[in-house]
Amino acid sequence: MSNYDIAVIPGDGTGPEVIAEGIKVLKKAAQKFDLNIDFTEYDFGGDRYLQTGEILSKSEIEEMKTKDAIYLGAIGHPDVKPGVLEKGILLKLRFELDLYINLRPITLYEGVESPLKNTEPGAIDFVVVRENTEGLYTGSGGFLKKGTPDEVAVQESINTRKGVERCLRYAFEYCRRRDKEKMLTLCGKTNVLTYAFDLWERTFNELASEYPGVTTDYAHVDATTMWMIKNPEYFDVIVTDNMFGDIITDLGAVLQGGMGIAAGGNINPEGVSMFEPIGGSAPKYTGQGTINPLAAIAAGHMMLSELGETEAAAAVKEAVKKVVKEDLKSLSAGKMGCSTSEVGDLVKDYI
Ligand code: IPM
Ligand code: MN
Repeated sequence: MSNYDIAVIPGDGTGPEVIAEGIKVLKKAAQKFDLNIDFTEYDFGGDRYLQTGEILSKSEIEEMKTKDAIYLGAIGHPDVKPGVLEKGILLKLRFELDLYINLRPITLYEGVESPLKNTEPGAIDFVVVRENTEGLYTGSGGFLKKGTPDEVAVQESINTRKGVERCLRYAFEYCRRRDKEKMLTLCGKTNVLTYAFDLWERTFNELASEYPGVTTDYAHVDATTMWMIKNPEYFDVIVTDNMFGDIITDLGAVLQGGMGIAAGGNINPEGVSMFEPIGGSAPKYTGQGTINPLAAIAAGHMMLSELGETEAAAAVKEAVKKVVKEDLKSLSAGKMGCSTSEVGDLVKDYI
């Protein structure tokens, strides 16, 4: 029997509600596929910060490094200044655990209405590999003469050869393993960001010779957003930097039916990875039992898959697809036709 020690960070807003359903489903999958999964809960988030002033300590980070994976709900609290918790918890974990890949699959399941006219399920099925530890997210930069009429604000995009190469290498390997069109699109902005994306493009072209089975492709980020709407079926795997990846994956989430279904993995292929629904804390829906837990459940599927539990992962995915196709009126909070916990029960029962 495989044993797993999972850190659970329910976090803020609707995070705890959706994570509870995810755990319900994971426990069922564990029982069915003979896995021993221990869940240990951590109270990192806005409420603890408001009560104690603690964000995330060094020893807590060290503890996370001893886990097999981390299962995260959402970070962000309406009473805390934007950036404090996001930088102090979510981004901190991404940096400290060196979660250098943010893997975001974009799939339109059967039974889901896409905001795009005449889009059949199957037409939208691609994956974004977002670099997750560099670019505009490092916090490099600063102010000069803050608050004066001569104020200067600089926010730098940091791109290291090592960071770019390991992300691209992961994307090439992922694309080959995915075994679909075997086409990897680099999404950049080589016509304007002529330093950062010069490095990305050169490294991309160099690595391409090591992966002869993968067709390489390039699109500027602005064109990428256009193609995602016009011809989403064109894409197989897209690799891009941190900021562009952040932006295009929200667009991708909407194409697949919205934040109710969109999940992502913050992955360190050589270490401990963290899985989360990408929709955020949704304060407006907190505590109502109307939020869609499928994104959190899908994050659980990604976690099982990354842990190598292929069969259990597939069972969760099939159950999610079935619920989407047969039971839900909509994927949006409050419009599903059932409650948060009923959705969790349906997925669990299909497993
Ligand atoms: C995401 C989120 C985060 C990001 C925020 C909450 C810091 O939008 O995971 O995409 O920008 O990466
Ligand atoms: Mn985002």
